[in-house]
Amino acid sequence: MISGVSLRMMFFLFLFVTISLDVAVSQDDCLVSSSCSHQGSLIRFPFRLKGQPDRCGYPGFELSCTERNETILELPHSAKVLVKNISYESHEMMVQDPEKCLPRQLQNLSLSASPFNFKLSNQWEALYDFTFFNCSSKKREMSYVDPIPCLSLPDYPVYAVMSTASIRDVDLSSCQKMYNISAVPYPVSELSKGFSLNWSSEICRNCEESMKCRLKSNSKEPETECIGEPATGAGKKVVTAGPIIGFFLLLVAVSVL
Ligand SMILES: *[C@@H]1O[C@H](CO)[C@@H](O)[C@H](O)[C@H]1NC(C)=O
Ligand SMILES: *[C@@H]1O[C@H](CO)[C@@H](O)[C@H](O)[C@H]1NC(C)=O
Ligand SMILES: *[C@@H]1O[C@H](CO)[C@@H](O)[C@H](O)[C@H]1NC(C)=O
Ligand SMILES: *[C@@H]1O[C@H](CO)[C@@H](O)[C@H](O)[C@H]1NC(C)=O
Ligand SMILES: *[C@@H]1O[C@H](CO)[C@@H](O)[C@H](O)[C@H]1NC(C)=O
Ligand SMILES: *[C@@H]1O[C@H](CO)[C@@H](O)[C@H](O)[C@H]1NC(C)=O
Repeated sequence: MISGVSLRMMFFLFLFVTISLDVAVSQDDCLVSSSCSHQGSLIRFPFRLKGQPDRCGYPGFELSCTERNETILELPHSAKVLVKNISYESHEMMVQDPEKCLPRQLQNLSLSASPFNFKLSNQWEALYDFTFFNCSSKKREMSYVDPIPCLSLPDYPVYAVMSTASIRDVDLSSCQKMYNISAVPYPVSELSKGFSLNWSSEICRNCEESMKCRLKSNSKEPETECIGEPATGAGKKVVTAGPIIGFFLLLVAVSVL
């Protein structure tokens, strides 16, 4: 006969197997490391690749692959940047405009509506508001301001003038106002070479590595939770052995009860 003690033990074993099975199954398709190419950035939480289930990534962290196997991030509102590399440790990534002309996208770019911020390279850098001007002549050199090469035509240089600049500093008599942009590093044209974005470490604040962090499944607001060691080979074994052992234990438990 099976004693009460071993029955209880079996029940707990059954519970344990069922729970670990649950974790292994729900995590497996998110933990599969993904990328757009061999050299491409490893994509894992809080990022997910388009095509992976929503719960694999934090809202706003969806990446996709281009036809040329490059990693792309879409930012509000319909701005697109190539992701050159991601540092999960420092919560930042290097991005670049696909056409190496970020100023063209700045009018559409609204980082404040995204989980990302400009990561400044030193404490003296800051974010500024700019007004873009399309000027009809290069004759009068503007002091302090260089034209943005990728937006300028030979006879129509385009300038990004700091909104705080005094009217006396810049001659805008032959220029047409294009639009304003806010909170961008200086100088604007340098952004075309690539720049860094960071995201808040608060997303996985309680976890040592983002690998051990995931989206909580049963909450309306996006919330994260920490999980144990990522499922490796052992996790996969649980997946296969789990249903068989679990079912067997259930049979034993039911027949004894
Ligand atoms: C993109 O990746 C696929 C599969 O890995 C490969 O067949 C294809 O040649 C790659 N394309 C380019 C442009 O590298
Ligand atoms: C990311 O790429 C930039 C330039 O391509 C490089 O300077 C930087 O060291 C890289 N960072 C990481 C974490 O690989
Ligand atoms: C800005 O976004 C709109 C769609 O919202 C798009 O039609 C337009 O081409 C974008 N402009 C630039 C410069 O990317
Ligand atoms: C991103 O980096 C800037 C410094 O460049 C820092 O002030 C800001 O707090 C960082 N943002 C997040 C969300 O970590
Ligand atoms: C600047 O104005 C000229 C003349 O109106 C126009 O042809 C050109 O496309 C404008 N440049 C930009 C970047 O809008
Ligand atoms: C840009 O901002 C300035 C104030 O900094 C304002 O006077 C101007 O009307 C704005 N222009 C556009 C096109 O929004």
